[in-house]
Amino acid sequence: MRTYTLLAPAKINLYLEIIGSRSDGFHELAMVMQSVDLADRLDLRANGTSEIRVHCDHPQVPSDRSNLAYRAAALMAEQFPDSFDKYGGVDIAIDKRIPIGAGLAGGSTNAAAVLVGLDLMWNVGLTQSELQELGAKLGSDVPFCIAGGTAIATGRGEKIAPLPDLNHLIAVLGKHRDLAISTPWAYQTYRQQFGHTYAQTGEQTQRIHSGALVTAIAHKDSRAIGQHLSNDLEKVVLPAHPPVAQLRDRMQQLGPLGGMMSGSGPTVFGLTESAAAAQELRSRLQAELTAVDFWVAPFTSTGVRLLF
Ligand code: C5P
Repeated sequence: MRTYTLLAPAKINLYLEIIGSRSDGFHELAMVMQSVDLADRLDLRANGTSEIRVHCDHPQVPSDRSNLAYRAAALMAEQFPDSFDKYGGVDIAIDKRIPIGAGLAGGSTNAAAVLVGLDLMWNVGLTQSELQELGAKLGSDVPFCIAGGTAIATGRGEKIAPLPDLNHLIAVLGKHRDLAISTPWAYQTYRQQFGHTYAQTGEQTQRIHSGALVTAIAHKDSRAIGQHLSNDLEKVVLPAHPPVAQLRDRMQQLGPLGGMMSGSGPTVFGLTESAAAAQELRSRLQAELTAVDFWVAPFTSTGVRLLF
């Protein structure tokens, strides 16, 4: 049987507002998500056994159940036992390009690729919204990663409403090489410090649709987009990690359209409108900050896609 090769892009958050607590222990969020052209590559191949096997040469990527890609395949096997019986187990090879523990949804986008790939391999024929419904069982960012592009995400992050593409923008991403930040830690710390400010109603979640950033996106107003970047998690991550705060400050000073931390960090991005400006920003920052890895990552309007 043929190998299915998929590209699984990273995401950044252009906006992340923590609205309040939910009864499931998660937070009610209002976010604007953006896919960027920094992607892992996954090869899925039927292995003729009844096992799911994950292979990745990155030393920090597990190959057991703790890998979200494994859990995505196990979920498909559980939901579609006849297909699993018919087609058998799968080898999932992950070529890791997205830094891990980075706030770029690397694990979530791998899980999204496995759902999309197994749906094709097993001829299940799920719609995008059915795939997203399954994805939500695996992680809050998985539904967005399936669709990709530019979108509002509310609820836990799993309710997606597409926005117009922003393919003219280019992000420069920077991440301290030896720093990973735990997402549960960031949210728990936020709850401890800011829980008293949480809203009681869902009304606030809907305000994002008419907010300044979404208006700027609708008008493709790059300058206004840069001005309205916002991430509540910066309030807890930046004080706890001064090198991330320093990188964020430099991105803001040098990034032509501003800069911000993505998700729970530690990745910080700066926005530009041209490839030349992105390369210049990257070179200037790389010369100053030797413990940081940088990537130039154009915005992209696609999520997971089948390469061949
Ligand atoms: O859904 P996901 O597994 O990516 O979430 C990771 C962690 O981030 C959760 O365990 C939770 O601590 C926190 N989180 C949250 N509210 C959300 C999304 C994530 O509190 N809406």
